[in-house]
Amino acid sequence: MQLQDRVAIITGAASGIGKAAARLFAREGARVLVADLDTVNGTAVAAEINAAGGTAQFLATDVSKSADAARAVETAGATWGRLDILYNNAAPTRLCNERDRAVHELDEAVWDTMIDVALKGVFLMSKHALPVMMRQHRGVILNTATVDAVIAEPAVDSYTAAKGGVIALTRSMALNYASHGIRVNCLSPGYVITECQLGWYDNPEARRAAEATHLTRLGRPEDIAEMALFLVSDKAEFMTGSNIVIDGGFSAFKFKPAASSNFFRKET
Ligand SMILES: NC(=O)c1ccc[n+]([C@@H]2O[C@H](COP(=O)([O-])OP(=O)(O)OC[C@H]3O[C@@H](n4cnc5c(N)ncnc54)[C@H](O)[C@@H]3O)[C@@H](O)[C@H]2O)c1
Repeated sequence: MQLQDRVAIITGAASGIGKAAARLFAREGARVLVADLDTVNGTAVAAEINAAGGTAQFLATDVSKSADAARAVETAGATWGRLDILYNNAAPTRLCNERDRAVHELDEAVWDTMIDVALKGVFLMSKHALPVMMRQHRGVILNTATVDAVIAEPAVDSYTAAKGGVIALTRSMALNYASHGIRVNCLSPGYVITECQLGWYDNPEARRAAEATHLTRLGRPEDIAEMALFLVSDKAEFMTGSNIVIDGGFSAFKFKPAASSNFFRKET
C-alpha cells in the first residue's frame, strides 16, 4: 500500500486518466476526492471505489472557479483531516478536440476558456492547497501537461500554450515550495485512449497513423496512472520540478517504429 492513509484530490477524475488514477490511488490506500464538473460520472467513480472497499467522495468542482477550488481543499480537510496529494489532471479536452485551432483562426473565447481551465485551474487548485501543505510541511502536487507542449502538434494552439504554461509553473512551484517539504512534478502524456479521444480513434485511418508513431500501441489511462502513482509516492521523494514525458517513444523517435524497423535492422 504505497499511499496508505494519504488524502488525495484528483481533478478531472470522472473520466479517462483521472478515473484510472482515482481507482489506483484508492487501491493503494489513499482517500480520494473526485473533483470534477461531471456529476453523473464523478459520482459513479466514487461509488465504484467505495463498493470495492476503498474510500472516495465526489465533489462537483469547476477548477477555473476560485470558490470551487477552495471548497475542494476544505472538503478534503473537513472529511479526512489533511491533504497530502493534489493531482491537477482536469482539462477541457473536448474543447481542444472540437474547437482548438491555429492562432489566426482561433476563437478568442476558446483561448480564454482553455487558459482558464487548463492553466488557471492548476494555479487556483494549488493556491488553495499549498497553505494546507505548508502547515503540514509535507505535500505533493502533480500537474498534467502533454507531449504537445514539448513537440508541436498542428492547430491546437490554445491547448499547447496552456500546457506549456503548466510545465513552466511546475518548475517555479517546485523551487518556491521545496523548502516547505512540498514536491511538484508534471506528467506529459502522449496519445492515450480515453473517453475524450474515442470519436477520433474510431476512425481506423487516424488510429493506424497514431499507432505507427508509437511503441506499437497507443497509451492506456492505466499507463499514465501508474507513473502518477510513482510520482506522488515516497518512492519519488528525490524528484521535484520534473516534467515526465510518457508517450510510447513518440517524442523520442526520429524514425517511427513502423518505418525504421526493417530499414535499419542490422543483419547478424
Ligand atoms: N488522452 C490523451 O491522449 C492525453 C494526452 C496528453 C495529455 N492529456 C491530459 O491528461 C488529462 C486527462 O485527459 P483525459 O484524456 O483523461 O481527458 P477526459 O476528457 O477523459 O477527462 C477530463 C476530465 O476533466 C473534467 N473537466 C473538464 N473541465 C473541467 C473543469 N473546469 N473543472 C473540473 N473538471 C473538468 C471532465 O469533466 C473530465 O471528467 C488532461 O489534462 C489532458 O489534457 C491527455
